[in-house]
Amino acid sequence: MPATLWRNGRVVPCTSVASAAVAQADAIVTEGARIEWVGRESVLPPELRARCGAVHDLADRLVTPGLIDCHTHLVFAGDRAAEFAERQRGVSYEEIARRGGGILSTVRATRAASMDALLEAARPRLEALRREGVTTIEIKSGYGLTLEAEARMLEVARELGRRHGAFVRTTYLAAHAVPPEFSGRGADYVRVLTREWLPELARRGLVDAVDIYCDRGAFSAADAVALFEAAHDLGLPVKMHAGQFADVGGVEVATRFGALSCDHLEELGAADVTRMAGVGAVAVLLPVAYYTLGQRKPPPVALLRDTAVPIAVATDCNPGTSPCASLLLAMNMACRLFALTPEEALAGVTCNAARALGLAPGRGSLAPGATADFVAWDLAAPHELSYWTGINRCHTVVRQGAMR
Ligand code: NIG
Ligand code: FE
Repeated sequence: MPATLWRNGRVVPCTSVASAAVAQADAIVTEGARIEWVGRESVLPPELRARCGAVHDLADRLVTPGLIDCHTHLVFAGDRAAEFAERQRGVSYEEIARRGGGILSTVRATRAASMDALLEAARPRLEALRREGVTTIEIKSGYGLTLEAEARMLEVARELGRRHGAFVRTTYLAAHAVPPEFSGRGADYVRVLTREWLPELARRGLVDAVDIYCDRGAFSAADAVALFEAAHDLGLPVKMHAGQFADVGGVEVATRFGALSCDHLEELGAADVTRMAGVGAVAVLLPVAYYTLGQRKPPPVALLRDTAVPIAVATDCNPGTSPCASLLLAMNMACRLFALTPEEALAGVTCNAARALGLAPGRGSLAPGATADFVAWDLAAPHELSYWTGINRCHTVVRQGAMR
């Protein structure tokens, strides 16, 4: 297979926070969908150069890995704009949920939508992310809450990736809310989604990871134990929505099961930070949800940093708490609201986001052996990715070694 030389770029490798900066590298050699070599073209081995059939000039642009949005609820029908207006009148998110709105109102709309309608509804959101250089995206179920409606969401997520050119990872989140059929019978619901639906959806090959919304007004730590035991038996990795509103003991469970990530984490205690560091769980921060809900207490970023917990940043794209399909905006908010450095924000949507999905080091960094997904930006420096808002300087996206 002939190789391709991408020359004259300013390469930001993003193999770690420390390398979320321009490196001494101006060239990438790809072979098929993989990166073969990264370095200074002046020291490119002659035998490798001889194999390069095509040469592309990156025109001195900044080159980062393809961005990874590692936490989204991108597939849903309808919207919750009326709830936004209600919140502006002072009604809280949790109060709206208690009244049967919130997640359950999106469940009603999503159940009523056909596969085509769901694909059509999600397409502009995926396109918006893709235009910003997102090449890998995690999409959760959780607005179906029946076996077939959850299956449909996961199928739609996979189909979106195939149709629109993105690498999609699907996460099973039936433990998102108790549906009306199980009202007052939460324990029965957990039993069914754990013992019946999860094995079936795994058998259909639709599940890459298992998630649970473990919080006040949602599911308990004991529910998470039951679900994660089943996931473990099926060989599936786990992750958790934890500590968005209250610490109900979720992170302790998640780390016990070697979770890939714990997400949100506004309410996270020091002992849990140590637990996360101990198992290498990624802290996925969701600043747009924090902003949308007008929360006041940010996650303990300084402690996460000092304890060497890897930090990722994602959009949490969903109709309730994050009606947002801009990962660049999430990076800006992570800096401004959570005091991340721009380098941390960039690592948070590249190497650490890959890790939160169990995809590192094969994705999310520019190094030999990694998938050849990268973006050329009309920017002078990497920190500009977090600096501008409403301005997208994405020039070229290379996916699987080919220009898209
Ligand atoms: O990540 N917290 C739970 N799940 C979503 C919100 C979903 C919704 O409101 O529809 C979140 O913020
Ligand atoms: Fe979420």
